[in-house]
Amino acid sequence: MTVGQACPVAIPGSTLITQIGELVTNEAERPLMTDAALVIEDGAVAWTGPAGQAPAADSVVDAEGRAVLPGFVDSHAHLVFAGERSAEFAARMAGRPYQAGGILTTVAATRAASDHTLRANLRRLAAEMLGQGTTTFECKSGYGLTVADEARAVALAAELTPEATYLGAHVVPPEFAGDVPGYVDLVCGPMLDACAPYARWVDVFCEDGVFGADEAAAVLAAGRARGLGARIHANQLGPGPGIRVAAQAGAASADHCTYLTDADLDTIVSAPLVATLLPGAEFGTRHPYPDARRLLDAGATVALATDCNPGSSFTSSMAFCIALAVRDMRMTTQEAVWAATAGGARALRRTDVGHLGVGARADLILLDAPSHAYLAYRPGVPQIAAVWQSGHLAAGTVSAGTAS
Ligand code: NIG
Ligand code: FE
Repeated sequence: MTVGQACPVAIPGSTLITQIGELVTNEAERPLMTDAALVIEDGAVAWTGPAGQAPAADSVVDAEGRAVLPGFVDSHAHLVFAGERSAEFAARMAGRPYQAGGILTTVAATRAASDHTLRANLRRLAAEMLGQGTTTFECKSGYGLTVADEARAVALAAELTPEATYLGAHVVPPEFAGDVPGYVDLVCGPMLDACAPYARWVDVFCEDGVFGADEAAAVLAAGRARGLGARIHANQLGPGPGIRVAAQAGAASADHCTYLTDADLDTIVSAPLVATLLPGAEFGTRHPYPDARRLLDAGATVALATDCNPGSSFTSSMAFCIALAVRDMRMTTQEAVWAATAGGARALRRTDVGHLGVGARADLILLDAPSHAYLAYRPGVPQIAAVWQSGHLAAGTVSAGTAS
């Protein structure tokens, strides 16, 4: 079926969502429709178009004028950890600077935690995300930093998402203090061997005082050689070589992008790299927000993600990130929602999610509001009425009738 063509016979097992006040499809031709309907069949979007032309379906959900948009794609999260760092956050809010060393507090707690605790923490956060409309998420290791602890973290992440990322190069652990080359060898050798079977991606924290250009390039090259896709934490706390390293590694995405030179900007556009912006981290560290307008105006593809982690950004809310992006990064409401859905999908090199074109996975959000703009217009207010994942109602409630 194609957009707008009515089908006279009910599709078996299909669901029609009708009376949609605003349907965000992210499709090039009709990114946004009003008075729309959508049909789900076999876990995928089978039809979208004007409500008045909607085909019959086995069951019908009346959206009552509310908005429907693609499920959020959170392409950057650190969810496998134990413990918390609220005191560090409070100290930062009282004036102390953010330091990457705080990561080691979480490393100690994570190493000491049982598999059961780590799995329970991860599942709780994943459920929290789903309830807030996130239907696809990426999840990094990076709080284990031994062969066994990293392998455990990536394996746990892979239980819940195909987008598991090996981040053995998060920081240098205390037992390798003064021996960064030794740790990079471990990350590129035995640790990679243990983690690669569970991971789709390799990541590195390329930052002054953490991993430099050569080290980061070595980590990404080793991961690539094992079939992993590359992504990077770059230019979060200051300018640096991370964007160039990412481009040279053929990375899908450069994440943070808070401090960019003009040359970095050119590299992002020409590589091309998705620029994944993580405003929760700037909120939580009081760094300046990345200049999204500059990136967008230069023609870069921008994604928004939570960076959910216990240190710099302990939020799982994509809606919060959208609100920050609109209010403080001068993204339009449509740009921000696109970045949190289609942008995230691009950052993960996925074509099946992040949009609601025919054939897309039926991952969608029914908002308790008439338009996507409410995500920024009513910050902090729960507005997710229902979430479908692969066509199944995964969170929230709707009253569905049977088609007569
Ligand atoms: O993306 N930058 C490195 N990693 C995380 C912070 C992790 C932490 O503070 O625990 C980030 O902000
Ligand atoms: Fe991060």
